[in-house]
Amino acid sequence: MRQAMVAGNWKMNGSSASVSELIEGINAGVGETSAEIVVCPPFVYLSAIAAATADSAVKLGAQNMCDQDGGAFTGEISGPMLKDIGCEYVIIGHSERRAMYGETDEITAIKYGAVLKNGLKPIFCIGETLEERESGVTEDVIGRQIDAILESDGVASLANAVLAYEPVWAIGTGKTASPEQAQDVHAFIRGKIAALDAGIADGLRILYGGSMNPGNAADLIAQADIDGGLIGGASLKADDFLAICKAAG
Ligand code: 13P
Repeated sequence: MRQAMVAGNWKMNGSSASVSELIEGINAGVGETSAEIVVCPPFVYLSAIAAATADSAVKLGAQNMCDQDGGAFTGEISGPMLKDIGCEYVIIGHSERRAMYGETDEITAIKYGAVLKNGLKPIFCIGETLEERESGVTEDVIGRQIDAILESDGVASLANAVLAYEPVWAIGTGKTASPEQAQDVHAFIRGKIAALDAGIADGLRILYGGSMNPGNAADLIAQADIDGGLIGGASLKADDFLAICKAAG
């Protein structure tokens, strides 16, 4: 049985005051869910949130990571640094990084390997654009994005990773994939992994992300191959985020 997971991707939002209020709210309700709960604040707030979650079940994730361990890489943050301040997860391959910061399949695969090498766990994001969906190539796109990490690190690497299916057209748009649309893609992903290793596929958590909110979370997570959510906008309000966490278990 896979433990459900709900991760909040705070993206580039918040201030010292607002993130501390948000994490207090989340800490207060986290005892009411059996799901694994992760928050991914902006880098500059990671240490503060690490301190604020030291006595809570909430785990810490980063939104990005450099593939290098240290040195002359101005503006970058390394795996050893994330490990040092108490991160457990790192989001890799988010569509915003692919679309706005030039992260190719090759770069996402290199970063995925670096996350694992540092004893951290990738939350690896995949998803098609609206144009790709409408041209019927969703599975080709998802397959190619997953092949990048399978070719570099092999199927066994997924034992320490989480996948997040985030259709680009559903991110921040208020348009969510229907439970059936999402389940179809999740089943395709699990089937693709199962063809290589049935045990890994069975244990692999595949999250859905894209306008998930307290109103639609339960129906999405009820699907056989949807093991939780990667939440953007709704993760910035403690009550909404906790409602999604409770919908997950
Ligand atoms: P929204 O929940 O705001 O659509 O964002 C989803 C997302 O990109 C999480 O990584």
